[in-house]
Amino acid sequence: MRIITTVREMQETAERLRREGKRVGVVPTMGYLHAGHTSLIAKARELSDVVITTIFVNPTQFGPGEDFERYPRDFERDRSLAEKAGSDIIFNPDVREMYPEGFATYVEVEHGSTILEGKFRPMHFRGVTTVVSKLLNITKPHVAVFGQKDAQQAFLIQKMARELNVDVSIVVAPIIREPDGLALSSRNVYLTPSERERAVQLFRSLKFAEERIRNGERSVAALRTEMERMIQSAQPSQVDYITFVRPDMFQEIELLQPPSVVAALAVRFGKTRLIDNSIINVPA
Ligand code: PAJ
Repeated sequence: MRIITTVREMQETAERLRREGKRVGVVPTMGYLHAGHTSLIAKARELSDVVITTIFVNPTQFGPGEDFERYPRDFERDRSLAEKAGSDIIFNPDVREMYPEGFATYVEVEHGSTILEGKFRPMHFRGVTTVVSKLLNITKPHVAVFGQKDAQQAFLIQKMARELNVDVSIVVAPIIREPDGLALSSRNVYLTPSERERAVQLFRSLKFAEERIRNGERSVAALRTEMERMIQSAQPSQVDYITFVRPDMFQEIELLQPPSVVAALAVRFGKTRLIDNSIINVPA
């Protein structure tokens, strides 16, 4: 497996691959890879001839006081996991390579970026759409794979790529979970054993919502009250939001309507902020 650290070498390599008629797939990540990330690499492997995994902890998507400095990093471990999962190339630039002195150009999706995550992390999505635009221009993929784990991020990246006419197909792959249901996340390593155990209530509350909706519940207020009660029983330090959005527009709703909704939540345990979501069918 090849490791590339400069934009120029990555662009030249991607250009050559495209000229050779290869289908190029990319999986953007911030590293500290887990089975969620490797499922995306495996998906890209299915869909392309050459798979590029990008590993870059992107400073512009972290707010002041967030965990940019302490975000977990382990390049050697990532290299071996990416290779095993079927990656051919790792693109691993440093911050100066991606953001040279004087960098001042940002990509911002104006709708859907200020609710949910955007409300609690104001500059977050501007950083995400900017770095993903750059990574797409650098790796020149035919297909880019993202996880449903970050549902709002996946929605905004699809919207950005479509509206800026980026010639790439964006694929969104399902959430990979621990056996007890906790969604895999690089940030799970921050959890104490007790927090880790209690964090399963997030998944349980989503399952509970699924069941209530299957049985006819359509009121978000009612669902939110019951989900909040379940989550509060796990003694989180804060519940940032529990909400329901229309999958096609990423707009918050109060009354559920067919064919489906996304139930999304963000909850803090100690210093660790966890997000999770579920796409739920709403029977007519
Ligand atoms: P990161 O958190 O490293 O996630 C990289 C990709 O893995 C994202 O598309 C994310 O949705 C997906 N992912 C994370 N956990 C997952 C899980 N349990 N199951 C399935 N997919 C999962 O998201 C980012 O990095 C960054 O914002 C990035 C897009 C790389 C831009 O910097």
